[in-house]
Amino acid sequence: MIRIVNLYKSFGSNHVLRGVDLEIRKGETMVIIGRSGEGKSVLLKTIVKLLEPDHGEIWFGGKNITAAGEKEKEAYLRRFGVLFQGAALFDSLSVEENVSFGLRRMKNLPEKEIARIVRERLAMVGLRDIEGKYPSELSGGMKKRVALARAIAMDPEVILYDEPTTGVDPIMADAINDLILDMKKKLSLTSVAVTHDMVSAYKIADRMAMLHEGRIVGMGTPAQIKKSRNPLIRQFISGSAQGPIRLV
Ligand SMILES: Nc1ncnc2c1ncn2[C@@H]1O[C@H](COP(=O)(O)OP(=O)(O)OP(=O)(O)O)[C@@H](O)[C@H]1O
Ligand SMILES: [Mg+2]
Repeated sequence: MIRIVNLYKSFGSNHVLRGVDLEIRKGETMVIIGRSGEGKSVLLKTIVKLLEPDHGEIWFGGKNITAAGEKEKEAYLRRFGVLFQGAALFDSLSVEENVSFGLRRMKNLPEKEIARIVRERLAMVGLRDIEGKYPSELSGGMKKRVALARAIAMDPEVILYDEPTTGVDPIMADAINDLILDMKKKLSLTSVAVTHDMVSAYKIADRMAMLHEGRIVGMGTPAQIKKSRNPLIRQFISGSAQGPIRLV
């Protein structure tokens, strides 16, 4: 469904993506693992065109979207929902306004219908009667779930999760993993999730890929990754300071 071909992205002399090749199949959850600062968020942002790659292509359903015009780009982006790292809610907007943000901008819907969708999506992530609250009044886990409700508000086909479980307690993290699995089933989503939480990665992934020094260095099902002989993968999944990955 999404094919990333030889993608490069640098910021000045910081060469972040150096030839990323990755295919995401329809209906699967692809988890991208890798150390902090390896470019996982940059990769997600290039998929939704918040960043332009320097070189390479992103194909979606047979179309090269890196070469798409404005109209095509808009239609393409409508098919995505994104959960940004750290939830990234608008602080000055209520929960209702946050969740309905895209709906109000993109679709001409009556207020009643918007309220219904917001209520329904909040219920899907296990929240109710918090429409009037502001992000500062919510816990970290609630913020993540509101951000999830916002990401699914527009019925996306593809959802991108950037660190969905980071910074919440293990029980909340597991609840978020369950939500991700549940939404995949209910909404037939194709997902790309970025994380360094290996418990979450193993639970939600159909396949996993490791990003290291700007490239995908290994890929497979959770079972294959667990058994991998690749020393980079071994070191990462065991969380060891010893191995081929240097700390600085
Ligand atoms: N807009 C930007 N301008 C300049 N440099 C950037 C920009 N966005 C990211 N970078 C740089 O790109 C590199 C990769 O950043 P990125 O946020 O993708 O890392 P990450 O793998 O998501 O890390 P983490 O796990 O900590 O979230 C970093 O060196 C970062 O400083
Ligand atoms: Mg990141």
